[in-house]
Amino acid sequence: MKKKLILDVDTGTDDAVAIMLAALHEDLDLVGVTTVNGNAEVEYCTENTLRVLDYIGESSIPVFEGLDKPIAREDFPVPRRQDDLLEKIHGKFLDLPEATSRKQDTSAVEYLIETYRAATDPITLVPVAPLSNIAAAIRLEPKLIKLIPEVVIMGGAHYTGNVTPSAEFNIWADPEAAAVVFNAGFEKITMVPLDATHKALVTAGDCEAFEALGTPAGKAMSIVTGHRIGVHDKIQRMDIERSAPVHDALCVAHLIDPSVITTGDYRVDVDTANGLCVGRTVIDVRERSGKEPNCKVAFDADARKFVSIMMETFAKNRLTAEA
Ligand code: BDR
Ligand code: CA
Repeated sequence: MKKKLILDVDTGTDDAVAIMLAALHEDLDLVGVTTVNGNAEVEYCTENTLRVLDYIGESSIPVFEGLDKPIAREDFPVPRRQDDLLEKIHGKFLDLPEATSRKQDTSAVEYLIETYRAATDPITLVPVAPLSNIAAAIRLEPKLIKLIPEVVIMGGAHYTGNVTPSAEFNIWADPEAAAVVFNAGFEKITMVPLDATHKALVTAGDCEAFEALGTPAGKAMSIVTGHRIGVHDKIQRMDIERSAPVHDALCVAHLIDPSVITTGDYRVDVDTANGLCVGRTVIDVRERSGKEPNCKVAFDADARKFVSIMMETFAKNRLTAEA
């Protein structure tokens, strides 16, 4: 049986890859996509999500728009600027044709609650964006904690942040929501922080191979990841020259092949105080807190396995690219 999942995204160049992998892999059934304020204002993230699905011929997957701001703040801890890092890494619109399909009328939070209430099969929830929708849904329907069998989160960082020295963007963008989710008591949370995604780098050489597949997914992968590599090389250099992390897709790859990341059980708490470390995920690697672990955390990843999974999947997307 295919593994069902819902992706919660703020599309975004790396969200785009996660969507393609989830929509196209034969072992997965992407039942719906929810969007949230994050890399750009939510309406751009929704449009970008629809663009990706249209481009790869998967417009029948429904898209539900979610929250346009964090759950407890009017804005991010530091308000969005036009020239900021996110604008550089993602842009407002992805460089793909305008969407022809439309979002659903139902809101993301309502969709999550209704879908899990009605589910007869397990559906993994994969948030790869600020956790605002998920926290809002749990608050409205606490039974979700038992109804959602597994949550795989792209977020957090131990060694180094990306939006500040301490914090990773998804957690920093809505720290109160992240604190709600990590403390909710879910049966299984897997956290995929920067420590893992920075080990799963995609190179410029890989992008050439994706482009050469001649499929829409291969082409889109090369466009969005090529863009990421250009920006990372200029402003956030990775360990390998001409490479970039494609964070969100690593969570989806883990559902296809769990061994693409290596995890351990840890206690994770989120700093919500408005100081230097706002949005930091404090991962208790040496058991100093005396608290029980609340999630599995990935500290390592297999880059070549990750790229192979995407290459094989995107090769099968045999449609004629329109652009
Ligand atoms: C995360 O932040 C966003 O900018 C990316 O889409 C990813 O989900 C990486 O820190
Ligand atoms: Ca994202």
